[in-house]
Amino acid sequence: MPSVVKINVLTVPAEQREVLEQRFASRAGAVEGSDGFEWFELLRPLEGTDQYLVYTRWRSEEDFQNWMNGSMKAAHGGGGSGAGGEGGERPKPAATGSTLWSFEVVQQASPKN
Ligand code: HEM
Repeated sequence: MPSVVKINVLTVPAEQREVLEQRFASRAGAVEGSDGFEWFELLRPLEGTDQYLVYTRWRSEEDFQNWMNGSMKAAHGGGGSGAGGEGGERPKPAATGSTLWSFEVVQQASPKN
């Protein structure tokens, strides 16, 4: 079974970029222990788009769904399911919008050494 790639596309106003990156930095370690988790990168746009990509790769769709329904909340401040939650003590999201893209890995390579 091929791995699945889930990319969350975040729209972030220029003046909120630093806030967003700091929030991610402060959640470092939030996903590493999850079953089936394979890779995470926060990608800052340089050219071609102004949206941030949250690249994640999982062993299977089921592993991703389990994370979404469980410990994803820990990576997102503990309240709600994400997008724009006005949950009381939660700070205002830096992102003004998000879209989830799904892919399966067709082919891959990594350096030999
Ligand atoms: C593909 C998987 C993911 C999905 C579907 C997802 C979902 C979302 C959504 C909807 C937002 C924007 C709304 C909000 O700010 O609450 C967001 C922002 C954020 N996510 Fe995720 N996320 C994913 C992966 C991750 C991972 C792996 C981490 C931690 C390593 C993480 C940490 C954060 C942080 C810190 C924010 C910034 C909140 C802000 O805008 O200030 N996310 N995510």
